[in-house]
Amino acid sequence: MVAALGLGRGGSSSAAEQVFRRGPVVLGTAFRIRAAETDPTYRGQLLAHGYGSLTPEYEMQMDGLEPQRGIFNFVQADRAVEFARAHGMTVRGHTLVWGKQLPSWLTRPSARWTRATLLPVLQQWIRTVVAHYAGLVGEWDVVNEPLNDDGSLKRNLWERLIGPDYIRIAFETAHATDPAAVLYINDYSTEWLDAKSNALYALARKLLGEGVPLGGIGFQVHSNTRTPVITRQLEANMKRFGALRLRTDVTEMDVDMRTLTAAPQAKLRAQARIYADAAQACASSPTCWTFTTWGFTDKYTWLGPAAQPLPFTARYAAKPAWQAITARLGHHARANHV
Ligand code: G3I
Repeated sequence: MVAALGLGRGGSSSAAEQVFRRGPVVLGTAFRIRAAETDPTYRGQLLAHGYGSLTPEYEMQMDGLEPQRGIFNFVQADRAVEFARAHGMTVRGHTLVWGKQLPSWLTRPSARWTRATLLPVLQQWIRTVVAHYAGLVGEWDVVNEPLNDDGSLKRNLWERLIGPDYIRIAFETAHATDPAAVLYINDYSTEWLDAKSNALYALARKLLGEGVPLGGIGFQVHSNTRTPVITRQLEANMKRFGALRLRTDVTEMDVDMRTLTAAPQAKLRAQARIYADAAQACASSPTCWTFTTWGFTDKYTWLGPAAQPLPFTARYAAKPAWQAITARLGHHARANHV
């Protein structure tokens, strides 16, 4: 029973206590350190809106960090972490175990991995990265996107060669390396009550029942104007995962507007509504600590500028979406970070 409540995560008591938010939701964004260093307007705007949490958008992926087996290149990720901390912002580590962005030495067929040979690779990767950022990165997306839409486990490299317990092993390895870090499963299309979120819920309960140090669920919420967020379903999901004593954060939100044929103002209003609904769900959930958008300006988005998915335009004008988010979260832009 203790484990099922998440108390058996084995983490420090502070980790177990840090489930229910005691203050306002922290507003966050993914960011690109290369843009922050080369685009002064991007840097200034990134620091002007009171963000309290930053997620390196891609600088911590395995292909960039361990380009050759056992050879780690932390240069760019270090600059990203230093930038965030220098401006008083916390860092979400993204991501340790994913089926994408894997280095070629890992994916080339000639590697002929087995469980016995791949497990030490996974453990050394996690130990090295989490140790490098211990005390600097307080939250990790330990396992990213493990589930298919039907709720089955994705047959990524780790699952195929190590088996389903790659997830348990990843969390236990990360926790052993930094017991203070809050450890998340992060996935998309989990904001509704359906096969995928049900499977994620069953996985979370199973892991907690085994005493695995799972600390939170990241709801990516890559939304769009065709399949909008349903507030009560996201709230219900956050409530049931929260009842397992897990944090329930929004980690990668954006709202692709290409799926709506309407006048520009109508599209902006529709986008704002969707952001408002997700922000409302987070604000009303005591286990939703951070609300992170996947970037903040349409100038830098993985979806391409035509999607216009973010709260600020490519020229950094605030959209109705920004007002919708900040109103629901009770967020007031702090003074610029010095
Ligand atoms: O900016 C560099 C450019 O200077 C360089 O010349 C070029 C070629 O190496 O790379 C460019 O960086 C690319 C970066 O996107 C910015 O465009 C990286 O190669 C590319 O890997 C990176 O893709 C990222 C992708 O994840 C894979 O890591 C996207 O930015 C990022 O938005 C996307 O984010 C994912 C989350 O990790 C997981 N959830 C879904 C989300 C969207 O796919």
